[in-house]
Amino acid sequence: MATVKNQSGLYVQFTVCLIGLFLLPLPSHSSDPDPLQDFCIGDTKSAFSVNGFPCKPAINVSSDDFFFDGLSKEGNTSNPFGSIVTPGNVLAFPGLNTLGISMNRVDVAPGGLNPPHSHPRAAETGVLINGKILVGIITTGNVLYSKILNPGQMFVIPKGLIHFEMNVGEEKALIFTAFNSHLPGAVVVPLNLFASKPSVPDGVLTKAFQVEKTVIDEIKSKFAA
Ligand SMILES: *[C@@H]1O[C@H](CO)[C@@H](O)[C@H](O)[C@H]1NC(C)=O
Ligand SMILES: *[C@@H]1O[C@H](CO)[C@@H](O)[C@H](O)[C@H]1NC(C)=O
Repeated sequence: MATVKNQSGLYVQFTVCLIGLFLLPLPSHSSDPDPLQDFCIGDTKSAFSVNGFPCKPAINVSSDDFFFDGLSKEGNTSNPFGSIVTPGNVLAFPGLNTLGISMNRVDVAPGGLNPPHSHPRAAETGVLINGKILVGIITTGNVLYSKILNPGQMFVIPKGLIHFEMNVGEEKALIFTAFNSHLPGAVVVPLNLFASKPSVPDGVLTKAFQVEKTVIDEIKSKFAA
């Protein structure tokens, strides 16, 4: 590096350093915040509401709080989508509380689809255990990235991006997914737009999709509870 010869040279070097600092990636939390104690088994029934759940008193904690068998059973895929997500999030498994991680089990019947959805609070990774699936990810720039996966293969879904998994094989598909949040949340696009309560006004949907109200009515009728 050039040695500083005078005041103005020093000033220029200082300015360049300052600009360089602003160009560095800012430190950020890319997942849930770190825990402040060994564990905090969620007391999901507590009357207190905090960012996460209050901890169950340590005296009440047992081995069972650290284990969960909710993902061991095959989900029932007899529904219009032909798929079912079994959550292993903090609500199902309070031992995950504050740890910034969780998993789901996804069962997809042949021809079934885990419909386009996004997780507002987490990036996702997954591994296909059985079957053959088409995984698609759509970016904020409307570019589709996709691939057909075979057992043992993994995928990653960047935080918040819309994605889907379709069973394109002859057999049932089984996927285990993992998240960097104890409660990633899921915005399922068709349900979010066409099955909300109260419902999104028809005028919003006819304009957004550039179709007649009869088309919107038909789609809404498919998801009417
Ligand atoms: C902890 O255990 C005590 C004694 O069994 C019980 O009264 C209390 O409700 C428990 N608290 C929680 C949060 O589980
Ligand atoms: C799966 O769900 C369908 C529709 O709700 C129901 O009729 C069927 O009995 C369920 N199958 C099993 C094995 O629980």
